[in-house]
Parts: sequence; C-alpha cells; structure tokens
Amino acid sequence: MWYCRRTMQRHVQVELAKRFFEYLNGRTTHYAEREMQIPTATYHDAGYAERERDVVFRANPIVVAHSSELPRSGDFLTREVIGAPVLLVRQPTGRLKAFFNVCRHRGAKLELDEKGCTHRFKCPYHAWSYNVDGSLRSIPFGEGFDGIDRSDYGLVELPVDERHGLIWVKLTPGDPLDIAQAIGAEMDAELSSFELDRYTLVREATYEEPMNWKVVADGFLDPYHLQFVHPTTVGPFFNTNVYTLDVLGPNVARLVVSRRSMHTVKDQDPEEVDLMPHIISNYILLPNTFVAVEPEHFEVWTISPHATDPGRSVTTIRFLLRSPPTTEREEQYLEKNWNLLIHTVVDEDWGVGRALQKGLPQSAMTRTLAGRNEAPIQFLHGHLAEQLSGDDADNMAPADAPYPRTYGNLVGTA
Ligand code: FES
Ligand SMILES: [Fe+2]
Repeated sequence: MWYCRRTMQRHVQVELAKRFFEYLNGRTTHYAEREMQIPTATYHDAGYAERERDVVFRANPIVVAHSSELPRSGDFLTREVIGAPVLLVRQPTGRLKAFFNVCRHRGAKLELDEKGCTHRFKCPYHAWSYNVDGSLRSIPFGEGFDGIDRSDYGLVELPVDERHGLIWVKLTPGDPLDIAQAIGAEMDAELSSFELDRYTLVREATYEEPMNWKVVADGFLDPYHLQFVHPTTVGPFFNTNVYTLDVLGPNVARLVVSRRSMHTVKDQDPEEVDLMPHIISNYILLPNTFVAVEPEHFEVWTISPHATDPGRSVTTIRFLLRSPPTTEREEQYLEKNWNLLIHTVVDEDWGVGRALQKGLPQSAMTRTLAGRNEAPIQFLHGHLAEQLSGDDADNMAPADAPYPRTYGNLVGTA
C-alpha cells in the first residue's frame, strides 16, 4: 500500500491532541465569539455575485490542476475557470505557462481538446498557429496582416504558479502571483510536511450544480451536520460537532474533524499519541480551494461560482494517492473510497444544498444564521465580507446588520 507518506508536524499534532481530548472529555468544541448573520442575498443576488467574481475570484489564485496532470514538456490542459477559457502548457524548461485559450485574430477558442501533448496550437477558424510559449508562429495568407507587428500578437498570458503539487492561476494578466507568499509561511510549512507534490491524481470529477458556490463550500466546512445528513455513510465514523479551527493567515485556516476512534486514545498523553488515524485535517485556502488530508489519500476540492448565474456553481473533486494502484486490493481501496465520497457528497450533501438553493431565495428570510459552533463557515463569510468591503459592501449587507468580524480571533476560543 501507499502508507509511507510524511505526516503532520509533530508539534501541531500534540497541540491538536490536547484540544481534542479536552473537547471530547468536556463534551464541547471550538466556538466563535458569537453567532453570525449571513444576508440571504449573498446566495442569490446577481449584483452581489458579479462583485464577488470580480473582486474575490479574479484577484485571487485559483487551483486549476494537479502537477501530475502535466508531467512532460508540451503537455497541455484546457479549463474553464469561472467561464474564462484557460490553456496551461508545460514548457521545455519544466515551468508552466498559462494563457487565455483565445485566438488573437478574431477570438475563436484556440485549443478544443481537454488535454494532450503538442509543440504548437492551431486555431480551428483561420489556422493561425502559436508556439507553446504563446508566441505567434504563423498566419495563413499573411499578406492581409502586413501592417501588424507579429510579436504583439502572442497569446494573452496569465499569472501561474505551482506549489504543493497544485497549479494555480490568476485571471488577471500581469498581476504578481506567489503562492508561498499568498498562503503565508505557517500554511506553507504545514502543506510541505505532506509532500503533496509527490502524489498522483487518480480520480477527478467536475460537477455543475444548481447551488451557489457558498452552499457547496458551507457544506464542506460543516462538522455540525455529519450525523444528521450522513447517518449511515460517514456519520458513524465521525464525532459530530467536535472540531478545531486555526486561522493561519488572512485567507487560510486549518479545520480538523475527529473520528469516533479518537475516543480510544482520548485519555492518553497527548505528547505520545499518533493523532493521524483519528483525524481528517482540512486546509482552507480561500477563496475556493480545500485540501482534505485523509489517512491514505488526499482530496482537493475547488468550488467556483458559475460565470453568470448566482444559483449555480462548478465543483471539481480530485483524489490523490502516493502512486497509482497496482494491486487488486489497492484498486478496490480506491474504488470503495471514491464511490463513498461521491455518494456522500452528490446525493447526501447536495440533496440538502439543491433544495436549500431553490427555497431560500423565495422565502421571506433576509438572513441565515451561523452558530458559535460554525466558526469555519463564519471564517469563509467574514473573509468574503472583508474582501468586498473596500468595494461597495453596503449594497450586499444591509447597514443595520453588519457582519460580526469575529473570525480573526477565533483561534483557541472554546
Ligand atoms: S480566429 Fe483564430 S485564426 Fe481567425
Ligand atoms: Fe456532508
């Protein structure tokens, strides 16, 4: 099997063990300072969604792939990222480049295949071609374009960075992009300890669903619903409403949930316990990337708004193993865990979410409520409010109900 992976830093494990044992023995959990009111409009208002796309999503790094998807020079992938067509290509130097997948001539979609390996891209419309570095290579019947400087007509490049095995792009050309800096030293060190870049993508699925992206994200960030929504699937394996949340930077946090099996070790010395079999740690990399560390695999979720419709979203779930399965037993492990994950999410979580999205905008409710025990959800919504407040946040949050900005001092409150 693939067990030989690096593990969570020891001092973090000990610190988490202390808190979890206290929570389990005291029948309590991590609490925010107070409840948070969330304006209902943030889930369905078209104007709010547009500001969110512009201010939050186009200005922040978004995960578009795992490094193992483009191992060789010339490997490419095409993606739609919040409606924008993106082309990623591995260069002969080993580095990646990202472009808008749009021809500079009259704007046709350039590469139509989802993935492949090539030394050039040729537009299907009038056959302009481009090198893998994005430069314009040839124009058929080129006399018609005598007056242009061809070096001005390379593909429009997007900022791209590769770190922890994840490939991130920013949809704003020319903006700087440095993931280590964006996630901060503490998160960077913690993700490094898992060596995600040494894993391989073994399953991936993308779902467009009739839910605002935050309905999907809220579900991911919710240790409070486990036994109620998942009574026969994952519910029996976890402690509902027992979790830790550590905000490690302005846009990053660690949410850890505990397995029922933790009861067997909760009276031991926290300094001695191997906590890993008893937890799932989830790394929240706002705005929309979530990395779940399971005992033998990783999941990477990206949850994106739809390009235009606030009531829809696009979620990609990636499943990573140390290496592709080689034995029947490994194949069965993968198959069983993937199917359980998809059933739990698509049928159970999203069954609730789809109905929520349908009914909430039609209700007279102007606010929903995130309790003190829902600090991860408060972190997400507080962060978004903060990002949008420089814009015209007054339009989205009625003045009489300002967001409580409690997420910044959630650490350690119990
Ligand atoms: S639009 Fe691409 S070659 Fe004309
Ligand atoms: Fe769930």
